[in-house]
Amino acid sequence: MNEVTGSKQGERWAASWYAVARASALGGARPVGLQRLGRRLVLWRDATGVARCADAACPHRGADLGLGRVQEGALECPYHGFRYDGGGACQLMPCEGRDAKPSRALTLRMHPVREAHGFIWAWLGGPAPEALPALPWLPGAPEPDANSASVEEVWSARFTRVMEGMMDLHHFPFAHRRYVPPGYTRLDPYEVQVDEGAIRTEGWLRKEERPPGTGFRFAISVAYPGVIHLRFTSRLEGAVVCTPVDAEHTWIAARFHQSYVRLPWLGWLAARLAIAFEFRFIQPDDHRMVRSSLPRSGALTHGHLVRSDRAIVAWHQLHRAALGDTPGAS
Ligand code: FES
Ligand SMILES: [Fe+2]
Repeated sequence: MNEVTGSKQGERWAASWYAVARASALGGARPVGLQRLGRRLVLWRDATGVARCADAACPHRGADLGLGRVQEGALECPYHGFRYDGGGACQLMPCEGRDAKPSRALTLRMHPVREAHGFIWAWLGGPAPEALPALPWLPGAPEPDANSASVEEVWSARFTRVMEGMMDLHHFPFAHRRYVPPGYTRLDPYEVQVDEGAIRTEGWLRKEERPPGTGFRFAISVAYPGVIHLRFTSRLEGAVVCTPVDAEHTWIAARFHQSYVRLPWLGWLAARLAIAFEFRFIQPDDHRMVRSSLPRSGALTHGHLVRSDRAIVAWHQLHRAALGDTPGAS
């Protein structure tokens, strides 16, 4: 499979669909400029409302198109006002007059885009295959609706470490000790299944002296490379997407859905409070842990993984296979 390289000492990422933005971010008079997989990108909606994604450097003299404007669905460069249509072709060079015909070289480098599950997905880096694969989504993960709320943030940590952190169950009684009653340290039972690029885990954190199946139950599924479905309770679930920004940073967008309260506005408010609590109080612990971990990249060969890390092993095996590595090569 194709790969994208983060930096000389950085990470390698499989060519794949990656969620790059929340769908609600697009549609205004301003395009969205951002960085994903080490590329500066610009996203906007064309005249028919279809999401578009291109490299952000203007083909004229390189200005950041993310600073430009959307004019009747065309992307206008902030520097000299050249306009690009939804296919990336230059349709207007104001300095040359309305009748001038732009050269074909003045064409944006476009990336395949999908809009689904409340996110904009882009196929980045490496040539897109003839038939693009399905999006890496997990059926049953929460979709945007009136009882869900979302947040996004960028962590100062590499993608591989962030993904390790997302699949980790047995850190709870330690990294989140402020919020977890003491003693629930034993991960047992713990099941991990891998099926066509999806890793499904379920585990119980119990007290050492209590029988298996007591304590707190967690269920986490991952669709390689970076989609996570969290089940906290039967009525509170989360969908999280993680995408490399560059070799050292990772974008994380999460949606929580709750079904305890199903009243107009209050349903959204309950989800909003749950995700705000998680990202204000819980996730900073995780961020601190993955940011502090050395080496900066996670890998099967870094550290000494134990039985309770089995989901992490499974993810790295998928990662290795996607990069075309042979065991022991990374
Ligand atoms: S740099 Fe974009 S129009 Fe000149
Ligand atoms: Fe955590």
